[in-house]
Amino acid sequence: MNDSVLSDNHNRKINYLRVSLTDRCNLKCIYCRPIGEIPRLKHSDILRYEEILRIINISSDLGVSKIRVTGGEPLLRKGVFGFLYDLNHISGIEDISLTTNGVFLSENIKKIKAVGIQRLNISLDSLDPRKFKKITGHDLFHQVWKGIEQAHALNFNPIKINVVALKGVNDDEFLRFAELTFSYPFHVRFIEHMPIGNAAVSSYRPLLSSEIKDTVSSIGKLVPVNKGLFDGPADRYRFEGAAGEIGFISPISHHFCETCNRLRLTASGHLRPCLLSDYNEDLKTPLRKGFSDNALAEIILRAVKNKPSQHRLSPNHLNPVSSQMSSIGG
Ligand code: 5AD
Repeated sequence: MNDSVLSDNHNRKINYLRVSLTDRCNLKCIYCRPIGEIPRLKHSDILRYEEILRIINISSDLGVSKIRVTGGEPLLRKGVFGFLYDLNHISGIEDISLTTNGVFLSENIKKIKAVGIQRLNISLDSLDPRKFKKITGHDLFHQVWKGIEQAHALNFNPIKINVVALKGVNDDEFLRFAELTFSYPFHVRFIEHMPIGNAAVSSYRPLLSSEIKDTVSSIGKLVPVNKGLFDGPADRYRFEGAAGEIGFISPISHHFCETCNRLRLTASGHLRPCLLSDYNEDLKTPLRKGFSDNALAEIILRAVKNKPSQHRLSPNHLNPVSSQMSSIGG
């Protein structure tokens, strides 16, 4: 592995690629689902698994060692377990994780384990079945929770629970989420809502991490946890004596752009160096025109060189991003 190639113009080393397998999702979360119809990608517009694996192989030679598989909902895509198995056998890839809404976790948890995945991120914005239905449009809380329990029983580690903080929607549940970390080793992560795409919940004053931290601090002292090599942008804490952790991800109040080490590959084969910028490089067309690995590597390097220094969202300036989250992968 060559770990020196993917550096951008701002001294950031890029070693993390997030791969969206599909723009489709079986849930319709209020902060993600588009208002009205957004045309879905056609089958032929979505990268085939061998194309994705080729891009990952090339990226790995350039220094990428961490992959997150996302969607839409990645477990909706046929053949996903074979893909994950192949991904797990790419040399140079040291860390693989899967982001899912958890609906198909229970029925697939053994397969996910068998292909070598250890790390799970599960999006769960409410612990109340009725509210879960309001947020997602589906009465599936119990099914998701069953999957989470099974993942726990099979020792997936870490199991991260992503909670998008939505004012007036789930802010009355933050304590319950925080309390989960006393009974389970889960990493509960509160994420500041970002205005991305044309969603039902979009522009309003976002709930910031400092407010959430104040709220959850009422049940115990939050002790900082040191970050490890592959850690993301979460500010991590643990309640004294708790099994799990609490994390705060603050793209609005404390953007972490100066340490951003990520690229994103969309299901349609576009490489986006910044979630919050619509700039991207098309890899699918050159792939299908028969470009060599070196020529594709040049495009990846160009995307990295053009990675914006920082995004433009701030608590007082919510300039929405036009692409849909479901097509980029969070
Ligand atoms: N703002 C913040 N987080 C979001 N996610 C999806 N949409 C948004 C948004 N607009 C989170 C989901 C998912 C993760 C990949 O991104 O919780 O778990």
